[in-house]
Amino acid sequence: MLYIGVDLGTSAVKLLLMDGEGKIQNIVSKEYPLYFPNPGWSEQKPEDWYTQVMEGIRELIKDADKSQVAGISFGGQMHGLVILDENDEVIRPAILWNDGRTTEECDYLNNVIGKEKLSEYTANISFTGFTAPKILWVKNKEPENFARIKKIMLPKDYIAYRLSGVHCTDVSDASGMLIFDVKNRCWSREMCEICGITEDQLAKVYESYEAVGTLLPAVAKELGIPESCKVVAGAGDNAAAAVGTGTVGDGNCNISLGTSGTIFISSEKFGVDKFNALHAFAHADGHYHLMGCMLSAASCNKWWMDEIIGTKDYGAEQKAIEKLGENHVYFLPYLMGERSPINDPLARGTFIGLTMDSTRADMTQAVLEGVAFALRDSFEVAKALGINIERTKICGGGAKSPLWKKMIANILNVKVDVIESEEGPALGGAMLAAVACGEFESVEDAAEKIVKIVDTVEPEAELVEKYEARYQQFKEIYPACKELFRKIR
Ligand code: XUL
Repeated sequence: MLYIGVDLGTSAVKLLLMDGEGKIQNIVSKEYPLYFPNPGWSEQKPEDWYTQVMEGIRELIKDADKSQVAGISFGGQMHGLVILDENDEVIRPAILWNDGRTTEECDYLNNVIGKEKLSEYTANISFTGFTAPKILWVKNKEPENFARIKKIMLPKDYIAYRLSGVHCTDVSDASGMLIFDVKNRCWSREMCEICGITEDQLAKVYESYEAVGTLLPAVAKELGIPESCKVVAGAGDNAAAAVGTGTVGDGNCNISLGTSGTIFISSEKFGVDKFNALHAFAHADGHYHLMGCMLSAASCNKWWMDEIIGTKDYGAEQKAIEKLGENHVYFLPYLMGERSPINDPLARGTFIGLTMDSTRADMTQAVLEGVAFALRDSFEVAKALGINIERTKICGGGAKSPLWKKMIANILNVKVDVIESEEGPALGGAMLAAVACGEFESVEDAAEKIVKIVDTVEPEAELVEKYEARYQQFKEIYPACKELFRKIR
């Protein structure tokens, strides 16, 4: 049998075809536009997602035996608000996970409703990218749109709906809405009241490895796939990536270097840290996880390469970097503000420490190191909670760079396990589809049989020491700039 994994990302959708033994048969990627209609805003059109998913599936399976496609599932960019009217038409462009417009709504949720209550109801507090503050923003700023809302959906769930006709979501993605009672894996009545919505405006919740239905006949016909093909709930992209890297069960870690950068720790038990500095979400394996999320990770490097120095040859730029641990240039990677752990939508990107002898390579190095230092900030929060992380998996576009992996191993002082395929969310999606179709007993069983470690990047004592000193300096830059960021808008 064949399984399709759809990773509905921020710059593109990546589609992956996997066979019943977990072998990847094909991978296709299709881009779509991202709109920044105001500074700090970030939107996409759900119709663009759907068009590119359908186009991508056709291309993905064009040489495959289509009659064998048994299941399709997803990893999707999290937190995005998709609102549908009574005809299931999209009311306005989706407001994405890295959108910072909801500062007022977050203040209201965190300070008027109060962090203690939010944490009691949902296991989390409010961040600008989360879904509940966006619902309040639409209520406050676009009341005519708010009045038309029949269904509230997340990005990948909108695609599942278009394929199956079912309004569904899964526990991991629902966790990032701030309307979900993570511990009990159900909607929070209190949060619905706070947001001015009713539970029937929300989708039905499934575990990530459960089928929500099968393909709609018209969709099946259009794709040439059997109508019996199962549409499986899937997961938020980080939980799906964790499945794809085998980060399941208890105490395992995955770092994702995509548009966002995340550090993800799987846990068999539910747990929340006292300051809610890390997100406490449900995992796609039926358990839980903690996660820190930075808003711009590989996207900082992409911005620096594509927009600023104007090259597509990332490898050549990285080759020029020689003095690891000795760079006097620093970069704050807050190009979209920042979530974990500083929670500051007004933070901005900054180069600091430039001198007349600074080179292009120093600045490229500073960008890569800045992202790794900022990841370490979330890593430190996990350590302060008593979580001992000695090794991590890694995935996402940034994981293709050996240099970046080396920086991460030494800046975080962890062993970085490189796996056969760094296609985290798309592979995780296909694995969830295979579990739902009975190919594997459980998500953990699928991970054990499919995911293979092919290399480990070990930290080197001398570099760890050099980077420790650099990190201590990096840590002082944001607090020194924080007030300035409020003035220079
Ligand atoms: C996680 C988050 C991002 C997006 C990126 O909380 O906001 O990782 O899921 O797609």
